[in-house]
Amino acid sequence: MMFVQDEFMEYKHLPIMAREILEELALHPGDMVVDATVGLGGHTKLLWEAVQPVGELYGFERDARNLVLAKEQLFGDQIGGQIGDQIGDQIGDQNLRLINASYSAMGETVKAESVDGVLFDLGVASPQLDDPERGFSFRHDGPLDMRFDATQGITAAEVVNQWKEEDLAEVFRKYGEELRARVAMQAIVRRRREKLFTSTLDLAEVIALVIPRRGRIHPATKIFQALRIVVNDELNELSKGLEAAKLVLKPGGKLAVLTFHSLEDRIVKQFMNSQTVAGGVDSKKGYYLKPTPAEIAANPRSRSAKLRIMVK
Ligand SMILES: C[S@@+](CC[C@H](N)C(=O)[O-])C[C@H]1O[C@@H](n2cnc3c(N)ncnc32)[C@H](O)[C@@H]1O
Repeated sequence: MMFVQDEFMEYKHLPIMAREILEELALHPGDMVVDATVGLGGHTKLLWEAVQPVGELYGFERDARNLVLAKEQLFGDQIGGQIGDQIGDQIGDQNLRLINASYSAMGETVKAESVDGVLFDLGVASPQLDDPERGFSFRHDGPLDMRFDATQGITAAEVVNQWKEEDLAEVFRKYGEELRARVAMQAIVRRRREKLFTSTLDLAEVIALVIPRRGRIHPATKIFQALRIVVNDELNELSKGLEAAKLVLKPGGKLAVLTFHSLEDRIVKQFMNSQTVAGGVDSKKGYYLKPTPAEIAANPRSRSAKLRIMVK
């Protein structure tokens, strides 16, 4: 997904691999569809249009601020209701429900074996990266937070200031696939003895002193990825979300997942492959689609995307 700001400072955004997703899900009017990651609603709108008239859509989004943006910018007055500050709030009428909850909880709201298609678009939405207050960015200074749902869970600052040395190194190795995990951990531990970390730039600068820059990639990229994954428990959420999607899909229903890095892609691939063996679910083994060169040229953030499909 990419956002560009126009002169009115509104985000226009390009949902990634939209054509391929619509072709693979092959939705019909009257179908029921789930968008597991609404973000700013780019794909949501296309999925909603594909099932009209009389179709149904459930959208899940862990980040209440994104859900508000999705509603305001993409649906305007078409759907009523307000989003409150409680997890699980929903907006919309009977046919279109946008729910402020993790996709791992989809089985609690959506009936088993009722859905024709489910889409997951994993990763961070650009407004999350661009808003320094959310603490995802090593380019803009902000509080070291990184929670998708800012109302619960631990912050990145708590992890870097409080976790044991070995646990920190393990997180950087496992979730950042950072070869210099120990070196980064040691630099952090040395610094936190003097002064605790509170801001994103502060952490990024300490990492940059001990990890060399790789081309245009910022030295703190993998450390920030690791912290984001652990703060949001992303990989466990993904495994639970995929199981939940399998539950709500009808036999013959389709699951489409867009991944952006190898850790999440491996989980999706292994899940889909294991279903083929265990559950009588047909996935095209090892098969995935990539964005076209034209899409990558128009939207460079799409270049690492892989789209995997499974048919229940
Ligand atoms: C790449 S964006 C989705 C973009 C969206 N497809 C669009 O076109 O606007 C991914 C979104 O997933 C959300 N997210 C991450 N983990 C989630 C979870 N466990 N449950 C629900 N949403 C989640 C993030 O907050 C983010 O807004």
